[in-house]
Amino acid sequence: MVNIGIIGVGGIANSTHIPQILESNGGQLCAICDIDKKRLRQTGKKYHIPPELQFENYLDLINCEKVDAVEICTPNYLHVKMAQDAIAAGKAVNVEKPLSVNFGEASKLNSFAANPTVPNMMCFSYRFMPAVRYAKEILDKGMLGKIISVNVEYLKSSAFSKDRRLEWRFIKKYAGTGVLGDLGVHLIDMAQLLIGEMKRVCATCGIVIKERPKEGSKELGAVETDDYCNFLVDFENGVTGTFSITRCAIGHNNTIKYQIFGTKGVISFDLTRTDILQVCLGEIDTESCGMHEIKVPKRFSISQEQMFIDLLNGKECSLLPTIADGLKCQKILDALLLSSENKQWVDLI
Ligand SMILES: NC(=O)c1ccc[n+]([C@@H]2O[C@H](COP(=O)([O-])OP(=O)(O)OC[C@H]3O[C@@H](n4cnc5c(N)ncnc54)[C@H](O)[C@@H]3O)[C@@H](O)[C@H]2O)c1
Repeated sequence: MVNIGIIGVGGIANSTHIPQILESNGGQLCAICDIDKKRLRQTGKKYHIPPELQFENYLDLINCEKVDAVEICTPNYLHVKMAQDAIAAGKAVNVEKPLSVNFGEASKLNSFAANPTVPNMMCFSYRFMPAVRYAKEILDKGMLGKIISVNVEYLKSSAFSKDRRLEWRFIKKYAGTGVLGDLGVHLIDMAQLLIGEMKRVCATCGIVIKERPKEGSKELGAVETDDYCNFLVDFENGVTGTFSITRCAIGHNNTIKYQIFGTKGVISFDLTRTDILQVCLGEIDTESCGMHEIKVPKRFSISQEQMFIDLLNGKECSLLPTIADGLKCQKILDALLLSSENKQWVDLI
C-alpha cells in the first residue's frame, strides 16, 4: 500500500485527487499540507488525517518518512520548485497542470524529464477519459485513414461569474496563462497524444473582463491572464488544426468538443459525455454521410489517481502523461502568447 501526501488541499485536491485516492486500490492518503491553516484542519478532519501528518510547510511533508509519493496541487508558480524538492528527496511526484508559469521556469526540470530518477506523472486529466482512450485506439488502428484536420472547442462562461475575485489565476506571476493554462493545456496535450507533435502555431488571445475585485477588498485590480485564445496549428505530420478556447462563451457551462477528420472517417466527442463517441466510420457510414453514437467499452475506464498508484506499484500504465509532456505543453503555451503578441506564426521546432 503506497502512502500519498498532497500539497495544496484546495479545489482540485478536494474535488478530484482525494476522492479518487479513496476509491482506488493499492494506495492511500497519508498526509496533507496547506498554508491555509483552516483549510488544512478542515480537510484533515474530514479525511481522518492525524494532526502530526497535517503540515503547513511543504518540505515537512516531502521529508516525512511515512510519505512515499507527493501530489502537487498548488497554484502554478509553485509546481516546479515543489517538484524539484520532492525529486531531490527521492519521492515520486504527480504534478498538477500546467507544469509552470513559463517555459524558462519549467526548463529547470529538463534534465529530470530526459532521465527521470523517480516515477512521475502530470495531471493531464483528459487522458483518463474513456472517450479519449477509445479515440486513441481507433486512430492507432488507422480506421480514420489519413488524418486531415482537427477542430477543438472549449467553451465556458465562467469569466462572467460576478463573484469571481482577483485570485491567483488572474495574475501572471502566479498563473502564467489564463484560460490557456487552465483549460487549453488539456486539449493541447490531447492533440499531441492523438494527432502528433505540433510544428507551428498562430494565435490571438485577449482579456475581456479587465478588472476584478481584489480578494478580501472592494478595490479593483487588473486581470493579467487571457480570457480567450483562438489559434491555428500545423502539425509535423501535415495535419492542420483550429482551437477555440474561451471562458467568455455565454450559454456554455462546459462544452468540450473535439472533432478529428480523416480520409476514411470522423471521430467527434464532447467531454461532457465521456462514455460516448460520435463517429462516421467505414463505407456505409461515409455513403450515408451521417454521424452516429457508439458507446465506449468499459475497458477504457481508469481514474487518474488509480493510474498514479499503479505507476507507484510498478504496474503498466498506458498513455501515462509525464513531466516531459508537461514541458512540451509549456513550450506551446509560451509560443501561443508570443504569437498573439507579435501577430505572427511561431515555430515550435
Ligand atoms: N487537472 C485539472 O483538471 C485541474 C482542474 C483544476 C485545477 N487544476 C490545477 O490544480 C492546481 C490548483 O488549483 P485549485 O483550483 O485547486 O486552486 P486552489 O486555489 O483552490 O487551491 C490551491 C491550494 O494551494 C494552497 N497553497 C498555496 N500556496 C501553498 C504553499 N506554499 N504550500 C502549501 N499549500 C499552498 C492554497 O492555500 C490552496 O488551498 C493549479 O495548478 C490548477 O491549474 C487542475
